[in-house]
Amino acid sequence: MTETKRLQGTVCVVTGAARGIGWAIAERLGREGGRIAAWDVSERRLKPAVDELCGLGIDARAFVCDVRRRDAVAAAMAQVELAFGAPVGVLVNNAVWARFGPLADIDEEMVDRTLAVGLKALMWTLQAAVPQMRRRGGGSVINLSSTSALHPVSDAIAYAAMKGGVLGLTRAAAVELASDRIRVNSVIPGMVGTPASKAQFDAPTLAAREAAMPLGRFGRPEDIAAAVAYLASDDAAYVHGTELMVDGGWTVGIQ
Ligand SMILES: NC(=O)c1ccc[n+]([C@@H]2O[C@H](COP(=O)([O-])OP(=O)(O)OC[C@H]3O[C@@H](n4cnc5c(N)ncnc54)[C@H](O)[C@@H]3O)[C@@H](O)[C@H]2O)c1
Repeated sequence: MTETKRLQGTVCVVTGAARGIGWAIAERLGREGGRIAAWDVSERRLKPAVDELCGLGIDARAFVCDVRRRDAVAAAMAQVELAFGAPVGVLVNNAVWARFGPLADIDEEMVDRTLAVGLKALMWTLQAAVPQMRRRGGGSVINLSSTSALHPVSDAIAYAAMKGGVLGLTRAAAVELASDRIRVNSVIPGMVGTPASKAQFDAPTLAAREAAMPLGRFGRPEDIAAAVAYLASDDAAYVHGTELMVDGGWTVGIQ
């Protein structure tokens, strides 16, 4: 448990917060004093997830929102400001819809949904959050990419394309929003041992991959949340337009 309160009173939107890394980010930002707007498309999963945050003493509220829909995103962002009585200061674009498979199995529906949730939606959340951030004199945006964008594994073409797009979008937004004092950065997690990511591999493959990690283990959601909290905070006041790799050293030896 962290003792610092680097985000005291700051309204933080976290997309895809019902489970996994998104929930861990919401928890960490909340422990740092952030007021958490937890977004997810799954109402069934979001309610207990937010109840758990509140049970930890975190000021968290649930916003059911499909980030693919520009109008729904605009409405939810406006509701966040109304609910907390203050504009959004931190936006974490974490939601993902990820499917893996060989090139031959890729179809239009799969590609469209992958890009809509993981890439296009970032434009809608940015469009909606930036006017609020401008009104408060600045903010911090953190976009979740993946080592798959830079060092892809097999059967991940759509996912890698989407996560590569996140890096380009982050840099472009950083250029455009610097004069508004809105910092934009991305975090690049390596393999994190969430149920969803583990489900991609059979048990022996998973064990072999974990044994091959330079630090001897997969990442934990808390590892990623700590990096996001740093970028969200004023400790990163001069960090802008960059990519923070959080992969336990997995990619450092890859040429
Ligand atoms: N788990 C890993 O190993 C790993 C590695 C690298 C990067 N990442 C990235 O970290 C982030 C979180 O990953 P995770 O493993 O926790 O994912 P996850 O699949 O466990 O959770 C994703 C969340 O996004 C929500 N979501 C899906 N579609 C949505 C929509 N249309 N609107 C709103 N919410 C929607 C889901 O309901 C879910 O709660 C993702 O961006 C992912 O690509 C994860």
